[in-house]
Amino acid sequence: MILHCVACNARYRQDPMLHACRSCASPLEVLLEDRDFDRARRFEGRGVWRFEPLLPVKRSVTLGEGDTGLHLCERLGRRLGIPRLYVKNEGENPTGSFKDRGMTVGIALALSTGARAVACASTGNTSASMSAYAARAGLTALVLLPAGKVAGGKLAQAVLHGARIAQIEGNFDDAMRLVVELSSQERSVYLLNSLNPYRLEGQKTLAFEVCEALGGSPDALVLPMGNAGNISAIWKGFREWRRLGRIPRLPRMVGVQAERAAPIVRTLREKSAGCRVENPETVATAIRIGAPVNWRKAVAAVVDSGGEAGTVTDGEILKAQQELARTEGLFVEPASAAPIAYLRKRRLKGVRTVVCVATGHGLKDPDAAEHAPVKMKRVKPTLAAIRRLLEG
Ligand code: F0G
Repeated sequence: MILHCVACNARYRQDPMLHACRSCASPLEVLLEDRDFDRARRFEGRGVWRFEPLLPVKRSVTLGEGDTGLHLCERLGRRLGIPRLYVKNEGENPTGSFKDRGMTVGIALALSTGARAVACASTGNTSASMSAYAARAGLTALVLLPAGKVAGGKLAQAVLHGARIAQIEGNFDDAMRLVVELSSQERSVYLLNSLNPYRLEGQKTLAFEVCEALGGSPDALVLPMGNAGNISAIWKGFREWRRLGRIPRLPRMVGVQAERAAPIVRTLREKSAGCRVENPETVATAIRIGAPVNWRKAVAAVVDSGGEAGTVTDGEILKAQQELARTEGLFVEPASAAPIAYLRKRRLKGVRTVVCVATGHGLKDPDAAEHAPVKMKRVKPTLAAIRRLLEG
């Protein structure tokens, strides 16, 4: 395996400390070579580490990540006019989001460098996941969060796992800039944002699991985009699975952003050279990001796969969250409902099998329930009062 620059094509030998291109400073990607694929013939075990032959490090710290459910949603599929709609429920991961897939790999790399501390900027889930894996590995966790903009469940996780938490008076993009500067100055602090190409290697395993479960690739995979690490990782996973000869064709990648936090959608529409919006805002705080570090990789995933990217409003996100919970029993956080909201808004042409990635568990953000219609009443402790409620 080598490292490869997505912007200028520069190539580097494997180096767990190298996260940006030395000549153009763009994010790097792990590139598997022919011999890596030749070696990867048998997959054994469970979850993310079942795919160890395709990962850049050996298993060390695990909490049982991966192997999440791929749920066929027939009722919702009928409503949306999709013959086979699946939800890949990443809330079933140990800390309740897809971040665990990457963190188990990233922490192993951190340990291999002799780091004493790990750090990340986060809208919440990365910090929750990193704090848990750092605790398990006996490392110090430092998390930089946008003050007042992280959902309660996620903050509770970082607190309970004993992370050092900096509430930054700024947004995620400010936190990201600071943590990158810090880790470049402090060699003993290992950076675990999705700027870290090794962490993303863990996240690509979602694609392998989907293909194995379906016995092929879906027609389209729909997911929310924030810093855009996940869409890049999953697209890479599909390409590697095809390279192994396990699937004949690739799915269309469909990336969804919140209307007021949609820099990647804008870049694709305007074909602009950069990717940034000022003051991003959305109820889906997980994807409240204005300057996504992996935007180039995300643009490539959408364009190369013949997919698309689009936006949904906060109202559409909350409605989709409630619909998924009520029709399919799946409780996801607002960002994770964005794909369903998008499918309600836009009909994807020529697709039969669609997989939506529900990136995080609904319990992460209990305050989102404030927006749902409530069937709850304070009653006297009598059966008659309860019967009246049942009758509605
Ligand atoms: N969905 C959820 C629930 C997330 O937490 C995130 C990102 C995304 C989608 C977007 O993924 O950044 O790879 O495009 N959360 C990061 C965090 C930014 O800090 O937890 P992405």
